[in-house]
Amino acid sequence: MTDETEPGASLDPKSFDARAATWDTPERLARASAASAAIRSAVRFPAGCRAIEIGAGTGLVGLALLDQLAELVLADTSEGMLAEARRKIDERDLRNVRAIHFDLVADPLPEGAPFDAAISQLVLHHIEDTAAGLAGFKRLLAPGGLLVALDLDTEDGSFHGAIGQGVHHLGFDRARLARLTEAAGFVDVQVRDGGTVGGAEEEDVPYPLFLLTARRP
Ligand SMILES: C[S@@+](CC[C@H](N)C(=O)[O-])C[C@H]1O[C@@H](n2cnc3c(N)ncnc32)[C@H](O)[C@@H]1O
Repeated sequence: MTDETEPGASLDPKSFDARAATWDTPERLARASAASAAIRSAVRFPAGCRAIEIGAGTGLVGLALLDQLAELVLADTSEGMLAEARRKIDERDLRNVRAIHFDLVADPLPEGAPFDAAISQLVLHHIEDTAAGLAGFKRLLAPGGLLVALDLDTEDGSFHGAIGQGVHHLGFDRARLARLTEAAGFVDVQVRDGGTVGGAEEEDVPYPLFLLTARRP
C-alpha cells in the first residue's frame, strides 16, 4: 500500500496531490474566471464577508472573488493542493487569506467558524454522502450565511472516465439536489446554469455546470 504522506513515496498520478503543481492550466484559469463571473451575478456577498472555500484546490475560485471578501480560508484535504495555495498566498502577500487542511465531512469545525459564506467548485461530486456534505456546509455557516456551490450536471461518466479515484457522483440532478439542500435545512435554494467545464480526458468537450445558492436560516 502506498503512503502518499511519506517523503519520496510515489504518488498516484491521478491523485490531487500529484496533479497540484500542474493544476492551474489555462482552461482551469478561464473556468475560475467564468465561475467568479457567474457567482458575482448571482450572489451579493455582505460587507466584511468572511468566507471559506471547501475543496479549494490551488485557490482558483476563491482568489478570483477576493475583492468581494474581507477574509478567505482555502480548505482542502490534499496537502499538494494546499502547498500550491500557500505558495500563491506568500507570493501575493495576501494577509487576509490562509490555507488549512480540512475535510468537510470528517473534521471538527475549523478556527474562524462560523463563516458568512461557504464556496465550492467541483467538490460535491467527490463527497460520497451528499446529505452529510450539505450538513457539513451548514455547520460552517453563521445564521444568514450563504452556500455557493458549482458542480456538474448529471453526466454519462465520460467526464472523469469512471467512478473511482474519489469520484462518487457522475454529476447531479438539479431538482434532486435542491430537495436535498432544503432537507439539510437551507432556505432560498436556487439552482442556475453555471457555465461549462472541459473534461479531464478531453479538455475540449464542454460539460454543463450548475450554480447552487442557498442560505442558512
Ligand atoms: C476537482 S478538485 C477542484 C479544485 C478547485 N475547487 C478547482 O475548481 O480548481 C476537488 C478538490 O476537492 C478536494 N476535496 C475532496 N473531498 C474533500 C473533502 N471531503 N473536504 C475538503 N476537500 C475535499 C480535493 O482534494 C480537490 O482539491
